[in-house]
Amino acid sequence: MAAKLRALLLGLVLSLAQPASAHRKLLVLLLDGFRSDYISDEALESLPGFKEIVRRGVKVDYLTPDFPSLSYPNYYSLMTGRHCEVHQMIGNYMWDPNTNKSFDIGVNRDSLMPLWWNGSEPLWVTLTKAKRKVYMYYWPGCEVEILGVRPTYCLEYKNVPTDINFANAVSDALDSFKSGRADLVAIYHERIDVEGHHYGPSSPQRKDALRAVDTVLKYMTQWIQERGLQDDLNIIIFSDHGMTDIFWMDKVIELNKYISLNDLQQAKDRGPVVSLWPAPGKHTEIYNKLSRVEHMTVYEKEAIPSRFYYKKGKFVSPLTLVADEGWFITESRETLPFWMNSTGKREGWQRGWHGYDNELMDMRGIFLAFGPDFKANFRAAPIRSVDVYNVMCNVAGVTPLPNNGSWSRVVCMLRSQASMAASVQRHSFVLALILPLLFA
Ligand SMILES: *[C@@H]1O[C@H](CO)[C@@H](O)[C@H](O)[C@H]1NC(C)=O
Ligand SMILES: *[C@@H]1O[C@H](CO)[C@@H](O)[C@H](O)[C@H]1NC(C)=O
Ligand SMILES: *[C@@H]1O[C@H](CO)[C@@H](O)[C@H](O)[C@H]1NC(C)=O
Ligand SMILES: *[C@@H]1O[C@H](CO)[C@@H](O)[C@H](O)[C@H]1NC(C)=O
Ligand SMILES: [Zn+2]
Repeated sequence: MAAKLRALLLGLVLSLAQPASAHRKLLVLLLDGFRSDYISDEALESLPGFKEIVRRGVKVDYLTPDFPSLSYPNYYSLMTGRHCEVHQMIGNYMWDPNTNKSFDIGVNRDSLMPLWWNGSEPLWVTLTKAKRKVYMYYWPGCEVEILGVRPTYCLEYKNVPTDINFANAVSDALDSFKSGRADLVAIYHERIDVEGHHYGPSSPQRKDALRAVDTVLKYMTQWIQERGLQDDLNIIIFSDHGMTDIFWMDKVIELNKYISLNDLQQAKDRGPVVSLWPAPGKHTEIYNKLSRVEHMTVYEKEAIPSRFYYKKGKFVSPLTLVADEGWFITESRETLPFWMNSTGKREGWQRGWHGYDNELMDMRGIFLAFGPDFKANFRAAPIRSVDVYNVMCNVAGVTPLPNNGSWSRVVCMLRSQASMAASVQRHSFVLALILPLLFA
């Protein structure tokens, strides 16, 4: 056989043996506090932006958050594929008795310490280390140096980015993809969560916030076509948790009615999940007194249900209080987290909250995806917040780190898997034909 032909065949053999990695661009949108039924089939009828995305791509029935169904824990479960007890970001409020440092929903200086963040490597750090260009807009924590790495670009989180901020971020993202400046863009939007807290999940204010996002998404699909990015860009949209109605008029548990607050060394957070560090010698007394309180459960660390994947976390307190759905735990009425309504004073009541048992329906979030690597018009079974990481790694073309996500729950939504299996078969068939020729 002519040497030239042999070389040609050898080249063909090598290319067949090595499946090309997709390496497409990826846009990720994190919509805080977006409950799964906000885009029920019925709701979609008046949301043209979301409806178009559902038609073009994948929608899962719902996404079960990690416990506690709060923001920071789930931001990290989504971006690491690991449960809270593995990645260590176990609350919006945390305390480390060893250093006497606090993490207070990311707003205090100390919450930028690597201590809280480097328990696991989030996707954006892995991609940045792999020399991929990562742009992040308002994403909580993008300004933090995690395991020694910061993303290529971080527009720092500020208190409630506006709808205009969101639209500009999406438009900037598409420009960055087009010009080759970015490989991954991650955008965070908060307003749906904020209105859900202030006015409740069923309020007109929450619905307005959702319509504003819908409008941006409608433009986004148009802008993608206009920039010719449709074959080169995948888009994944998800939330961290849902939202349920709360009732401060009658469903508040005031801890000072049952225990002396002076017997606590530390207390963190209020609402559905509260962490307590009893003062020395007070553990049993506090545990016994709180065991008798109705509409909540007090757990010693080891007794926290394993299904929460929470109790092994290194920042978990000796006592954890978990409220029944709709109930709100606080030290006293005066310390309830009132918000500043149009009176300009902190006196507004909250009507919605989340953080409860992650299996509750109202805590469920969303997951949508579309683009060249996703099936079109595909309705998928429920997934969990830890499952999202593997999907992002797959379409971004990086090997996932060890994680707690289930590949079998997400593989069905990808287009390549079906065609990949077919092409492997085809390739082996061609190989079987060529190899004898090569060595003839
Ligand atoms: C721990 O920090 C708090 C708040 O910064 C401070 O009030 C307290 O005195 C500190 N405790 C110790 C033991 O240093
Ligand atoms: C993460 O940060 C903590 C606290 O700063 C430090 O003790 C630990 O060594 C760091 N881990 C890594 C892997 O950098
Ligand atoms: C502000 O909140 C308080 C407490 O919920 C309420 O009584 C008051 O009517 C609110 N004011 C406005 C203007 O919304
Ligand atoms: C979660 O993943 C981590 C990292 O791979 C592993 O160490 C841990 O055992 C897993 N946990 C569960 C419950 O599977
Ligand atoms: Zn929230």
